[in-house]
Amino acid sequence: MTGDVETSFRVHAPGRVNLIGEHTDYTGGLAFPMAIDRGITLSAQRRAGRIELTSADAPGRLIVELPFSGDPAVVEPQWGSFVAAMAQQLGSSDGFVGHLVSDIPAGAGLSSSAALECAVGRALGFEGTALELAQTARRAEHAATGVPTGIMDQYCIAAAMQGHATLIDCGDLTIEQVAVPDEIDVVVRFIAHRTLLGSAYADRVAECARAEAQIGPLRDATLDDVARIDDTTVRRRAHHVVSENRRVRDFASALRHRDYATLGRLMVDGHASLRDDFETSTTQMDAAVDELNGRAGVFGARMTGGGFGGCLVALCEPGAISDGWVVTPSAGARVLPPAD
Ligand code: GLA
Repeated sequence: MTGDVETSFRVHAPGRVNLIGEHTDYTGGLAFPMAIDRGITLSAQRRAGRIELTSADAPGRLIVELPFSGDPAVVEPQWGSFVAAMAQQLGSSDGFVGHLVSDIPAGAGLSSSAALECAVGRALGFEGTALELAQTARRAEHAATGVPTGIMDQYCIAAAMQGHATLIDCGDLTIEQVAVPDEIDVVVRFIAHRTLLGSAYADRVAECARAEAQIGPLRDATLDDVARIDDTTVRRRAHHVVSENRRVRDFASALRHRDYATLGRLMVDGHASLRDDFETSTTQMDAAVDELNGRAGVFGARMTGGGFGGCLVALCEPGAISDGWVVTPSAGARVLPPAD
């Protein structure tokens, strides 16, 4: 028994930390996230015509009648919006009664919502490719929140491979799994809760669209193209995106060559670009990142995820950072073997 449910199947979906490639996905750029060994596990049994779900982290019972035809954004409890939206996207009429256990804090920028969407997709029997799962989950995220997020989180969580980070080309939607050596630590530290709802995330998406209206796809733009943008703010946003795409390429190459000094420098540069050009950091985040970047054994640290709070990510020599979670690269959303 798990919760009050006799389990007949279990699904696990990891959270993710983005190593580099921030705010590049919605202009078809490059992102380099890694699924982590923290995530959401759903234990359930089949139930025709509805989803009933409880969560170890929140009171209340979610009940979604299937097929779901309402507005997922107003479903209560609020985390149920992602569940209802996913069932709606899939047009499911058969659901499950189950229980959720998570060790990814919500609002930490570790993609708990994308993990929930992908877990529910697998629990509803979705059998398409990882890309198709990600595209469905992204539509569900938009329906649940109205925030125009990119595909990075869902694609990483759907497609990840144990021991690897996932280099995503958000233009042609191809991926490359790059091994993360176990001779370095990847550390995540929670800084502050954030929500992208009502944040400047949508403003950033719009500013990037304005840049593209003037110079064409940022994916193909050069820094000389960026210099032609009239509006100072839009120019700085575009400067971040174009330089960040370059950093992702260089980071992937440095990771393959185990060139940790270069990885660190790219993380420091990436953070400065988010702080100064894209303006998605906070003073609290900057202080924590700066302190780590000055610490012995730390190759580099930066904010990770959408910004305005959330977590930082650092790469370091083993044991160099003890005040954070050492995370390991994990496999994507999957049906688990039955529990003993
Ligand atoms: C959030 C979004 C992603 C991406 C990041 C920033 O996590 O969900 O699509 O845009 O912010 O890199």
